[in-house]
Amino acid sequence: MTLTVREMTGSEVDLIIEYFFQSTPEYLEILGVDPSRLPAPDGWRERFRRACEQPIEQRGWIAVTWLSDNQPIGFSTADKIAYGEHANMHLHVIDPGRRNQGYGVECVRRSVDIYFDRLQLKRLFCEPNAFNVAPNRTLQKAGFKYLKTHMTVPGPLNYHQAVTRWVIER
Ligand SMILES: CC(C)(COP(=O)(O)OP(=O)(O)OC[C@H]1O[C@@H](n2cnc3c(N)ncnc32)[C@H](O)[C@@H]1OP(=O)(O)O)[C@@H](O)C(=O)NCCC(=O)NCCS
Repeated sequence: MTLTVREMTGSEVDLIIEYFFQSTPEYLEILGVDPSRLPAPDGWRERFRRACEQPIEQRGWIAVTWLSDNQPIGFSTADKIAYGEHANMHLHVIDPGRRNQGYGVECVRRSVDIYFDRLQLKRLFCEPNAFNVAPNRTLQKAGFKYLKTHMTVPGPLNYHQAVTRWVIER
């Protein structure tokens, strides 16, 4: 089994769109995502593709694909990017059958390396739903430090919720 973690290409963004649109409302609830806030697929695809073509210094968004034996098994995205300073990351193993087998920690570690390198970051944040155990444990194991738990709307797809704020600095 060969694990590969690399920047996502514009032609792969359907991985993300299909993942969210094929998810049940119950699963989205665990992620802290409000289904009514998912953008229409065509417009969303176009936005992702355009983002992938922008110079790295101007990126508002970047994604990383996680592959096992060249098959995509997950992805990470980063947004709220201040180039040279900070960004926020997200993490997803697509197939439920592949979760909790160690892919997440390893892929998060490698995604973090890519974000720090490409975006010249000083710090990288992640804010999973406080009740979603898997990402919270994964982030800690991958070297993130706990900052706080607070109520917020963490992103444009999310509802108001308790989130745990984690950071990794270099
Ligand atoms: C979060 C996610 C990417 C982690 O990847 P993963 O491959 O499942 O994680 P790993 O197998 O590397 O496990 C990492 C740690 O999390 C723990 N963990 C994973 N899934 C768990 C679960 N369902 N319940 C409790 N702990 C869990 C593991 O036990 C391990 O911790 P430990 O070694 O200290 O025991 C993956 O579970 C996932 O995609 N979940 C659904 C999407 C999601 O919630 N994303 C976060 C949105 S911010």
